[in-house]
Amino acid sequence: MARLKTAVLLSGRGSNLQALIDAALEQEFPAKIVRVISNVPGASGLDRAEKVGIPTTTIDHREFDGREPFEATLQTELQNSGVELICLAGFMRLLTKSFVDRWHDRIINIHPSLLPSYKGLHTHERVLSDGVRFTGCTVHFLRAEMDTGPIIVQAAVPVHPGDDADALAARVLTAEHRCFPLALRLVAGGKTRVIGNRVEIENAGAPDVVSLNPDDGKA
Ligand code: GRF
Repeated sequence: MARLKTAVLLSGRGSNLQALIDAALEQEFPAKIVRVISNVPGASGLDRAEKVGIPTTTIDHREFDGREPFEATLQTELQNSGVELICLAGFMRLLTKSFVDRWHDRIINIHPSLLPSYKGLHTHERVLSDGVRFTGCTVHFLRAEMDTGPIIVQAAVPVHPGDDADALAARVLTAEHRCFPLALRLVAGGKTRVIGNRVEIENAGAPDVVSLNPDDGKA
């Protein structure tokens, strides 16, 4: 089986990368992580990749005069590695429309909220101050506008009384680690079809193929 050549882009600790690495250990997993790229020198996610022999590259955005030259280097690196799909796993740089369009339906991103609610940063703090009872995470195809794009997988996560942002972030992160591998499996396995703003999943007879909720006993 040809596995889809996948790059993971990150800026930090890489716990989502770890979830993807662990999932890809399975022989039948349809994606192979061929390169991990960080825009932050020394990001600890790079160590996770190196530990299992995945080549890494650091492209420090501060060394470039603007987004375009940074992305030109990124593009060359991706091309040289034969990358077919990009996973953004805590990659804290906005990408330009021209880069995102070039990779149309070939970039997937994880965001720690139930999109389209709570786009942007500090999601957990905003969830807590609004007093909503559920939050969650979303894996979606990337579009140029921040944190938008067709939704592949979501998980709902309850907000508990007394939660602070750290406690809530930890609970959401556990769900992220289930959602991202699931989404990558679906996309790399050719099970997703983007129709307008929606993603259709092949043979998704039951809702739990693409939505994880707190009543399923695992969240
Ligand atoms: C995650 O919460 C992800 O949703 C957000 O950034 C965080 C990255 O965490 N985009 P990690 O580096 O994968 O541990």
